[in-house]
Amino acid sequence: MTELLDGKALALQIKDEIANEVRQMTQEGHRAPHLAAVIVGSDGASMTYVANKEKSSHEVGFTSSVYRMAESTTEKQLLETIDFLNNDPDIDGFIVQLPLPKHIDEQKVINAISAEKDVDGFTPVNIGRMVLGEDCFTPATPMGICTLLKRYGIETAGKHCVVIGRSNIVGTPVANLLSRKGFDCTVTMCHSKTQNLKELTLQADILVVAIGKPEFVTGDMVKPGAVVVDVGIHRVEDATKKNGYRVIGDVKHSEVDPKCSWVTPVPGGVGPLTIVSLLQNTLKAYKRR
Ligand code: GUN
Repeated sequence: MTELLDGKALALQIKDEIANEVRQMTQEGHRAPHLAAVIVGSDGASMTYVANKEKSSHEVGFTSSVYRMAESTTEKQLLETIDFLNNDPDIDGFIVQLPLPKHIDEQKVINAISAEKDVDGFTPVNIGRMVLGEDCFTPATPMGICTLLKRYGIETAGKHCVVIGRSNIVGTPVANLLSRKGFDCTVTMCHSKTQNLKELTLQADILVVAIGKPEFVTGDMVKPGAVVVDVGIHRVEDATKKNGYRVIGDVKHSEVDPKCSWVTPVPGGVGPLTIVSLLQNTLKAYKRR
């Protein structure tokens, strides 16, 4: 029987744990942790993500601020805002929502974020610390995937984990984390140039799909009994929905779900845990200071 890795329910539980900790600290007279977000332009999906991050921050008792900047913002202006946030003593951590407009060099912007406030875990310093197994801010989505597997007691030691996608923010870090002591998976990383992809995915005990292509993984690519983690989030038009769209993942769930032992739904799987990881990192940044 297929069981759900219910990210929504788990996120509620962890947010409750964070809220209790924050309440205790503020009752002792300390200020609340403060998470800031920068968004450039008005991409619909990015605006939804930032709104969700703001809502979740408030739910756990954090202070939250959002810096909304026009699509026409120059790289220099954005770098000045980052410099301001790096030096603002009231802010414990901040994120710059990606993707950025084409005229801005994304890596240059990430490199400008202070490692101590980089609660997304995207800076070279935090990525380097993560790879070395040192204390760091772990990237939020990979951290959320690890939390889901751990809290649901999924057996990972010695399992073959196949990761599809090699992005800096999901595929690459999650492959690293799951191969480490504590998870002990044997990891195969696949990407756009991988040959015989299906041959590999059929060997996966744990399949993490972060390729960014709607319903890319079909039923014939999945081994019976596999654990499938779907990181994709895509909006597709749907006239039957009030808002005119529905959200689908990188996995064709109608075919794949019946074959799995465990699967993350979309929405309500990895997404809520990404936000929770961001809150956990912000709490950590606050405590460090
Ligand atoms: N865009 C898609 N996912 C993320 C994320 O986790 N953090 C940021 N900053 N931007 C994103």
